[in-house]
Amino acid sequence: MKTRLLVLLLGIVTTVPLAAADPVAPAALLNRGRYLVEGIGLCADCHSPRNEKGEFVTAHWLRGAPIGFTPAVPMPVWAPVAPPIAGLPSMTAEQAVKFLMEGKRPDGTMPRPPMPAYRLNEEDARAMVAYLKSLGDAPAVAAQP
Ligand code: HEC
Repeated sequence: MKTRLLVLLLGIVTTVPLAAADPVAPAALLNRGRYLVEGIGLCADCHSPRNEKGEFVTAHWLRGAPIGFTPAVPMPVWAPVAPPIAGLPSMTAEQAVKFLMEGKRPDGTMPRPPMPAYRLNEEDARAMVAYLKSLGDAPAVAAQP
C-alpha cells in the first residue's frame, strides 16, 4: 500500500510540472519570428502607431494603428484601422498560423485591404505567431472609425 502511494506521489510530482509547463517558445524561434515580422513582413508599417514626426511609437509596438493612407482608386472595401497584433488577441496560435498560411480568418472571411492575404509556409507562420504571441495582449490604441 505504502509503495503504491509512493509511486502515485512520484507520478504526480514528475508529471505535474510537465503538464503545467507553458510551451515557452525557444529563443531561436522567437528571434526568427521577430526578424520575419520586423524585417520581412513589415507588419509595423500598418500595425504600429506613429508620432507626428512619422516615427514609430515603440511603447505601442504592433498594438494597432489607423491606416495613414487611402487607395488612389476608390475601393469598396477598405479597412481604415489595423488592429493590434501584439499577443494576437483575436486568434489562438493555431488559428493565426492558419490565417498567415491561407490568408483567411477562422470564420473563412478574408481580411479587408490593405491587409495582405499572406500565403506563408508553416515554418515562417509558426515563427511569426510565436513572436507575436510572446508580446502579450494589449488594448487597442487606435481610434475606431
Ligand atoms: C499594408 C498594411 C498592413 C500590413 C503590411 C500588415 N497588415 Fe495586418 N492588417 C491590416 C489591416 C488594415 C487589418 C484589418 C483588416 C480588416 O479589418 O478586415 C489587418 C488585420 C490583421 C490581423 C487581424 C485579423 C483579424 O480579423 O483578427 C492580423 C492577425 C494581422 N493583420 C497580422 C499581420 C501580420 C502578421 C503582418 C505582417 C506579416 C501584417 N498583418 C501586415 C493591415 C496590414
